Amino acid sequence: MKAVIYNEYGGPEVLHVAEIAKPKPSDNEVLIRISAAEVTKGDCELRSFEFPVKWFSFGLRLVFGVFRPRKKILGGYFSGTVEEIGARVNKFSPGDEVFGASSLKLGAYAQYLALPEKYTIVHKPSNLSFEQAAAAPLGGLNALHFMRLADIQPGETLLVNGAGGSIGTFAVQIAKCMGAEVTAVDAAIKERMLLDIGADHFIDYGKQDFRKSGRRYDVIFDMVASSPLDESIAVLSSAGRYVTANPTFKKMLGAKKTYKKTGKKVIFAFAAEREDELQALKAMLEEERISPAVDRIFPMEQVVEAHRCVEAEQRLGIIVLKID
Ligand SMILES: NC(=O)c1ccc[n+]([C@@H]2O[C@H](COP(=O)([O-])OP(=O)(O)OC[C@H]3O[C@@H](n4cnc5c(N)ncnc54)[C@H](OP(=O)(O)O)[C@@H]3O)[C@@H](O)[C@H]2O)c1
Repeated sequence: MKAVIYNEYGGPEVLHVAEIAKPKPSDNEVLIRISAAEVTKGDCELRSFEFPVKWFSFGLRLVFGVFRPRKKILGGYFSGTVEEIGARVNKFSPGDEVFGASSLKLGAYAQYLALPEKYTIVHKPSNLSFEQAAAAPLGGLNALHFMRLADIQPGETLLVNGAGGSIGTFAVQIAKCMGAEVTAVDAAIKERMLLDIGADHFIDYGKQDFRKSGRRYDVIFDMVASSPLDESIAVLSSAGRYVTANPTFKKMLGAKKTYKKTGKKVIFAFAAEREDELQALKAMLEEERISPAVDRIFPMEQVVEAHRCVEAEQRLGIIVLKID
């Protein structure tokens, strides 16, 4: 089968298409013929081994390879069709169209992927193309998880910092479904797209620091590792929550102290990417309450350009690799 592989950490050019052995599903696995995979910021971070939060790197090096990548195929989020099932699989049948997450196993930049049936895989939303479906699990699962942790109530004000990326575009839409008034913060080129997907207000971070605008928010959902905690806490309302997908040590250590001093919560977590949350996401997609903000679709052979596009941050939403 064809797969995009990489044998060393580095720039996008370390990625190339190669012919490798097709996986065989074991008794508890499904073999999925991959149609599309999202090209995520996380894939770029694993490829270059540079992370915005430095403490991530140590543990990840042990899992992913100290000197060179042990897992040579990136792609943690996919859509495709079940081709074969192991003897003990009963959740899926050959021909089922699915979408999901391969988590730290990765491997979706390939024509086939074998995964245990208990992984976060469910039937694909019937109204989405394969490319749209592949763009949903990362952003959708993370956004849903964090928006539920924030316990957003109708009428509350939410600011999403880094709203134009994979997680942010879903967070804007899910928070709107929960009844929040949403302010999206990102680069100027993303203003139209963010207003189109439902944001009520937009702040261009290149022109204005939301922490100095004089406005207060009930919830801040922060995708930007480097943003300062104390200044963000200062613009939260009295029962406000600061939610971060990218917790630095300083923010984790400061969480308790902040709560004691101000009564405002600092919430950080790794989204577990659970099957029940993917089912909930699927329902929201099928009811057309939310939709993946796909910007561009690249063929597998243009994976280097796809990674450059994600890293250059000139994209308006999500980038997808078409495999099939
Ligand atoms: N906790 C978890 O479980 C978990 C799970 C998945 C991902 N993550 C992490 O969460 C982060 C966000 O993920 P993602 O996939 O949504 O990333 P993404 O697609 O790259 O989105 C990040 C967005 O933030 C914008 N941005 C950059 N600097 C900014 C600033 N100073 N102010 C406001 N916006 C800014 C970027 O735009 P421009 O650069 O164009 O300005 C981009 O639109 C990643 O670092 C990822 O590793 C955490």
